[in-house]
Amino acid sequence: MSPGLTHGRAVHYDEAVAAMKAALDGGANFWNGGTFKTLIAEGQIGSYGLSEVKADTVRRAHAVHPIGAVEVELSLFSRHALLGQGSVVETCRELGIPVVAYSPLDRGWLTGELKRRQDLAPDDYRHGFPRFQPGNFEKNVRLAELVADLARARGYTSSKVALAWVKRQGAIPIPGSTKAKRVEENCKEVVLSDEDVEALQKKVDEVEIVGHRYPELFHEHLEM
Ligand SMILES: NC(=O)c1ccc[n+]([C@@H]2O[C@H](COP(=O)([O-])OP(=O)(O)OC[C@H]3O[C@@H](n4cnc5c(N)ncnc54)[C@H](OP(=O)(O)O)[C@@H]3O)[C@@H](O)[C@H]2O)c1
Repeated sequence: MSPGLTHGRAVHYDEAVAAMKAALDGGANFWNGGTFKTLIAEGQIGSYGLSEVKADTVRRAHAVHPIGAVEVELSLFSRHALLGQGSVVETCRELGIPVVAYSPLDRGWLTGELKRRQDLAPDDYRHGFPRFQPGNFEKNVRLAELVADLARARGYTSSKVALAWVKRQGAIPIPGSTKAKRVEENCKEVVLSDEDVEALQKKVDEVEIVGHRYPELFHEHLEM
C-alpha cells in the first residue's frame, strides 16, 4: 500500500481507488462535477488541473468548477498553444487560469547540447520521437544552434534563454532534469529584454522545426 498525495491527509492508494470506483459506479463523471467538487469543498484536494486540452475544453471545464492550472507543451520550438485567436493560452489569460509549460526545453533541444544522434543513449525514449529521427535531427540541430548562438552573445546558456522566453509568454515552465545542479540552475531567473525576445522570434521564424512533437500513436490524445 503506498500513500497518495492529498491536500490535507495521506490517503492510501487502494482507499483512493475504492472511493473513485464507488463514485463512478454512482454515475459521477467530470462533467457533472463527479466527486472532485466535493473533495475541493471539503479541503481534501486543493484544486484540479487539465493537460493537453483545447480552448473549448478549458471553457467547458471552467464552467463546471474553476480550473487551478492548465498544462500545455510550450517552448520556442512548440508554440502551437499560443497561436491563433482564442488559443489555449489566450483563453487561460482571459479566464485568469495559470498556464504551466511542460517540455519547455523541447525535450533537450533547447539546451544547445544535442549535436549528434549518438549523444542519445541507445535506450533514450527520444529515439521514438519525430524530431529526433535521422534527417530531422540534423536540421533541428541547426535551429537549436541559432538559439544557442543568441544566448552566448548575451552571456547566457541556451536553457536559460529558452526558459526566460516561456516566462515572457506568461507561463510557468517546468523543465525536467535528472541532475540536481541543473535543477538549481534552471530555477535561477533570467529576464529577457524586449529586444532579446524580438531577436529570438526572428531566429526561430527563420527555420522551421522539423517533425511533430509526438509520434503518430499519441496524436489522438493531444489537445483534447
Ligand atoms: N503532461 C504531459 O503530457 C507531459 C508530457 C511531457 C513532459 N511533461 C512534464 O514536463 C516536465 C519537463 O519535460 P521534459 O523533461 O520532457 O522536457 P524538457 O524540460 O523540455 O527537457 C528535459 C531535457 O533537458 C535536459 N536539461 C534540463 N535542464 C538542463 C540544463 N540546464 N542544461 C542542459 N540540459 C538540461 C535534461 O537532461 P538531464 O536529465 O540530463 O539534465 C532532459 O534531457 C517534466 O516534469 C514532465 O513530467 C508533461
